[in-house]
Amino acid sequence: MWKLHCTIITFMAAACRVVSSLDVPFTEVANATQRRAVCLDGSPAGYYYSAGSGDGARNWLIYLRGGGWCQNIDSCQSKLNQSFGSNRFLPPFRNLTGILSSNNQINPDFYNWNRIYVGYCDQSSFLGDSEFDDGQGLKLQFRGSRIFDAVVDDLLAKGMGVGENAILSGNSAGALATILHCDGFRERLPDVGRVKCLSDAGFFFRGEKVLNADYREKFFASTIVFHNISSFLPVTCTERIDPSLCLFPENLGGDIQTPLFILNKKQLITDFGAAFIKAVREISNNPSRGMFIEACFSHAVAYDERYWSPNSTIKLGNLTIQEAFANWYFDRDSITLITTANFLENCN
Ligand SMILES: *[C@@H]1O[C@H](CO)[C@@H](O)[C@H](O)[C@H]1NC(C)=O
Ligand SMILES: *[C@@H]1O[C@H](CO)[C@@H](O)[C@H](O)[C@H]1NC(C)=O
Ligand SMILES: *[C@@H]1O[C@H](CO)[C@@H](O)[C@H](O)[C@H]1NC(C)=O
Ligand SMILES: *[C@@H]1O[C@H](CO)[C@@H](O)[C@H](O)[C@H]1NC(C)=O
Ligand SMILES: *[C@@H]1O[C@H](CO)[C@@H](O)[C@H](O)[C@H]1NC(C)=O
Ligand SMILES: *[C@@H]1O[C@H](CO)[C@@H](O)[C@H](O)[C@H]1NC(C)=O
Repeated sequence: MWKLHCTIITFMAAACRVVSSLDVPFTEVANATQRRAVCLDGSPAGYYYSAGSGDGARNWLIYLRGGGWCQNIDSCQSKLNQSFGSNRFLPPFRNLTGILSSNNQINPDFYNWNRIYVGYCDQSSFLGDSEFDDGQGLKLQFRGSRIFDAVVDDLLAKGMGVGENAILSGNSAGALATILHCDGFRERLPDVGRVKCLSDAGFFFRGEKVLNADYREKFFASTIVFHNISSFLPVTCTERIDPSLCLFPENLGGDIQTPLFILNKKQLITDFGAAFIKAVREISNNPSRGMFIEACFSHAVAYDERYWSPNSTIKLGNLTIQEAFANWYFDRDSITLITTANFLENCN
């Protein structure tokens, strides 16, 4: 199916081209600039949106893209000329894949949902609301919280609030954002029956006195200071321990109430691995949390059709990742699948 699509985007001229029905256009959030829902460089926040249809029309799946964090002037400045710091560098159209695919062979459970791929350009996991000015012409916008809120507002305006099912998901820095925003997302959807979260490669583990814990601690601590996000971190963590440790999911202390599914690569060092699994189990007090912890994963998997497909060779308890997640999401089964491997073998 082909049609003519025209867009007028503030930073591009009006553009018309023939697009395939798989092409999903980039949409700026409404009034992005006035609302200061902007990227590091001040460009408008936005997302790729594909409308739901048929029995998926009232279901919503949000996927937060990842792409690291910046934690000082140099690292933030280096993001200004890429899509991780500026939406000017996002393509005007994108084919959504994996868990966002519109192909029912690849993505049988969610292919006809409203599917949203959110650009990641704030570099602090969709947290924060401040700006940086070095007094010499370099200005950086730290508006992650405004971006997240504005995206949710836009989707509520499209009908998400009267939907039946909703999922907040994301990969890497977007997966950490998913953990941190999961309960807040649930609160914004009081009338939606089933709201759950999927964190794909977001369980960044500090551990204690092992494997460069100090390095990871300093990295997150400087991100928190540079973006001034202490007051956006979960109070249940910041009132108990030093806020500089509150980007580590292991320190959230089991406080997440909304059902959360953790997809993550297992840490393959015996002691560290055991501590990691214990921390994953403790992240939420909600008995309906789920997990699929594999050794062979690449960093993130839900958007990758090598893994998110009925043909994926990665299985635990005979279930592919998508079967495990769907069984958990639709309350067919509780899912706790953790590989027993302690070293890499037979990964392909
Ligand atoms: C955008 O701004 C216009 C003018 O200020 C206002 O009328 C409109 O309601 C706003 N829309 C949203 C979604 O905030
Ligand atoms: C982006 O800017 C940095 C300097 O901030 C420079 O080192 C890098 O080469 C630039 N990359 C591109 C793709 O222009
Ligand atoms: C999306 O996929 C279709 C079919 O393979 C292709 O024609 C189109 O160019 C792709 N669009 C983008 C933005 O990659
Ligand atoms: C899965 O593999 C079978 C057999 O090779 C193939 O016919 C089918 O198209 C594949 N499905 C997907 C979604 O790739
Ligand atoms: C940092 O955040 C606090 C609390 O949100 C705010 O009062 C303060 O003005 C912010 N500082 C900067 C430099 O943005
Ligand atoms: C997986 O399926 C095989 C073949 O159907 C069966 O023998 C095995 O017991 C199953 N394993 C699990 C963990 O369910």
